[in-house]
Amino acid sequence: MKRYNNIQARSDKNMIVCCGATGAFYSACLALLNLGDEVIIFEPYYGYHINTFLAVGAKPVFVRLIPPDWGFDLNDLKNIITKKTKGIMINTPANPSGKVFSQRELEDIADLALKHDLFVFTDEIYEYPICDGVTG
Ligand SMILES: Cc1ncc(COP(=O)(O)O)c(C=O)c1O
Repeated sequence: MKRYNNIQARSDKNMIVCCGATGAFYSACLALLNLGDEVIIFEPYYGYHINTFLAVGAKPVFVRLIPPDWGFDLNDLKNIITKKTKGIMINTPANPSGKVFSQRELEDIADLALKHDLFVFTDEIYEYPICDGVTG
């Protein structure tokens, strides 16, 4: 975590071992979301993310990633936030588009999450197989 992500984390305090990304994500959603909460997700999306939100009674709302670069309009993201919004889902590198969110995009999302007090769920299971030059 320190070497690759530059995150200082202790195994006895800051980490939870789960049964795969699937189990970890489901557990996080169960713990943090309530019935009727809205969660923003970028489309195209990994189907399991939607099914998990629906399984815990949360409502996915969508921001479109625009091909061929899979960027998004920051205003689309700002405009979709309501009083019911509880979180934003990021999958980077993404399945199925292969999109890798840029530093700038992640900072824009972080700013909005801080401003509106939102959870950010990230699924980064493909973080290692990134080709040189893709991260922009
Ligand atoms: C984006 C994404 N997250 C999670 C998973 C599943 O991860 P795990 O096998 O660790 O539950 C997959 C598998 O295809 C995936 O594409």
